[in-house]
Amino acid sequence: MKINKVIGYQVLDSRGRPTVAASISLTDGSTHTARVPSGASTGAHEAKELRDVGSKYAERFYSGLSVQQAVANINEKIAPRLVEEQIDLNLVDAQLIELDPSSDHTHLGANATLAVSLAAAYADAHSQNKSLARYFNPEGKLLIPMPMVNILSGGAHANRAMDIQDLLIIPTGAKSFTEALSWIVAVREMAAKLGKEGGFVTNLIADEGGLSIGFDSIEKACEFVVNAIEKVGLKVGVEVNLALDVASTQFFDGKNYHLTTQGKSYTSSEFVKYINTVVSNQPIISIEDPFAEDDWLPWQAFMQECPKKLQVLGDDLLTTNLTRLNKAIAEKSANAILIKANQNGLVSATLNVLKQARANNFNTVVSARSGENEDSWLADLATGWGAGQIKVGSTHGSERNAKWNRLLELEATEKTKFVNPFA
Ligand code: PGA
Ligand code: ZN
Repeated sequence: MKINKVIGYQVLDSRGRPTVAASISLTDGSTHTARVPSGASTGAHEAKELRDVGSKYAERFYSGLSVQQAVANINEKIAPRLVEEQIDLNLVDAQLIELDPSSDHTHLGANATLAVSLAAAYADAHSQNKSLARYFNPEGKLLIPMPMVNILSGGAHANRAMDIQDLLIIPTGAKSFTEALSWIVAVREMAAKLGKEGGFVTNLIADEGGLSIGFDSIEKACEFVVNAIEKVGLKVGVEVNLALDVASTQFFDGKNYHLTTQGKSYTSSEFVKYINTVVSNQPIISIEDPFAEDDWLPWQAFMQECPKKLQVLGDDLLTTNLTRLNKAIAEKSANAILIKANQNGLVSATLNVLKQARANNFNTVVSARSGENEDSWLADLATGWGAGQIKVGSTHGSERNAKWNRLLELEATEKTKFVNPFA
């Protein structure tokens, strides 16, 4: 089957900011569309998202955030290359690399390349008469990932109400994804109720749908969520565990880590000790970006000192980038990687990073961004790739629930197995 048409256009994301959509039409008359997400606490080493600020494309009312340049790249540069070609994800990605050989997709924009790459994945799956999940895993059971879900939000997603960005729960004791999600919703509702009763403001919903309650210490925030888990009748440490996304690059000044709400500053080696105390005293089984994106040494030191089973997850550190992942593997800086397609810019290259991580015994967590949309390809990628874990934010906002609902759909309609990488 051949590509008939490729069209890029601007749409809105969950924060009301412009983002890129791409539609690929095939010779059988079908059309396949994908929209790209966008981060707020972006890593310095991510692929480059093209925004119009300072260019002739900048629109009057989008504060320089419009993406018409990326859209023009799809319509004027990418489309002429792809039309009349066979639909094949790997061939499309190879063409995108030929058009822009830069490692971070500077010229076309990673938002342009990813939109086209994702639309090509959908179109290629359709040409084989498969769903996106089945396209990547045609045989046997689909592996439904363990969710990691925001209860409390802070950092760049919640006006820095809390120093750390996310306090999440992982329902490790659930027997199915369907059950897992019901536990999560119950804990979130209980946390909102306890927040109201405790006099905290809980009508503030953060970018990823978590509750924006301003705790002045990580420990107090953990105790609050532990209490919510217990109050719904679930066993902490057995059925439900905690996870943190510290997003520490946000409060590292190149020398010290500043926990502003806690009123404390730490050198890198002091912060290793402090974080180790936190994870040792709380039911935390996963910690993301405890140290800054270019502060590699404490990562290594922490990996040697921290509890053996702890998942040490690199997001801003690794940015879904093969070179950075290989450095972390060689130096034992982490044991898990967050996989975000838009940090990388191409579907096939993102899958290669995931495969390299798994070949080296790293856990993989496929992740959404704080700026999302109604697409649900993330759920299909996480499942089709057998990633083992997925992080989407909270269970509020249809841009989040589109992903959860797609996992519910896969569990209801396909042969599946719910994965627990923490067993
Ligand atoms: P971002 O945050 O999408 O705003 O970068 C998500 C994360 O840090 O995991
Ligand atoms: Zn993160």
